[in-house]
Amino acid sequence: MQMHSHLHSAARALRAAGMLALGLSVVACQVDREPNWEFAPWINHMFFPTAAESQGPAPVNAKTGKPVFANGMAMQKPPAGTVPHVKNREFWPLHLTNDDAGRKAADALVNPFKPAEGAAAAAGHLARGKWGFETFCAPCHNSNGDGAGTVAKKAGWAFPLATKDSKVNGFSDGHIFHLITYGRGAMPSYASQISQEDRWKIVLHLRELQKQAN
Ligand code: HEC
Repeated sequence: MQMHSHLHSAARALRAAGMLALGLSVVACQVDREPNWEFAPWINHMFFPTAAESQGPAPVNAKTGKPVFANGMAMQKPPAGTVPHVKNREFWPLHLTNDDAGRKAADALVNPFKPAEGAAAAAGHLARGKWGFETFCAPCHNSNGDGAGTVAKKAGWAFPLATKDSKVNGFSDGHIFHLITYGRGAMPSYASQISQEDRWKIVLHLRELQKQAN
């Protein structure tokens, strides 16, 4: 009986010592500039990436002592197939502002997706545009573009996009693109939800709806 209780308290003391050691080791591992717990320390470079100035030298590989890029520079030529932002400015108008000047400049934009160019590709663009329109526009403007969407009816609005007398028939593709990008009045901006490509494809679909209505 006595023996048993002795063993018991010895085990408890051991356990307490173990906990203390564990606690100390955790504290000892703590370095201010580092997170306390690292899931996979061998991929440390993901937690502490090496920063480089774009116009400066390339970082040096710690193992080889050589720059990570052969030409020694941080900035490299973009890989083949990368979308050039500046060349395609007429399609990706990040420079257009949300004001009259921006709207006017938008009239000159050309939809990069054509309904007639390559039947299969065009069908894909149109299908994507239809999906986008029904997801993001139909709640207010209705699937057929007559303006009687669920939200619009509740709110008492009617902004038809594809009816015989809708003024949107006379809007340029670029103007509609600009409108989706920035929104207007009670219509929110969709810049963060709809990619630029999809905005153009939605315009493509809207043109189809207008053709059907006219
Ligand atoms: C939350 C409701 C709502 C959604 C969703 C919405 N709109 Fe609108 N839209 C409006 C309202 C309200 C107006 C009128 C804005 C104003 O002139 O004050 C409008 C106006 C427009 C106009 C101009 C119409 C005119 O008569 O001047 C176009 C074009 C348009 N929207 C296209 C779209 C497209 C394309 C989408 C989908 C990407 C979309 N809208 C999504 C509410 C919405």
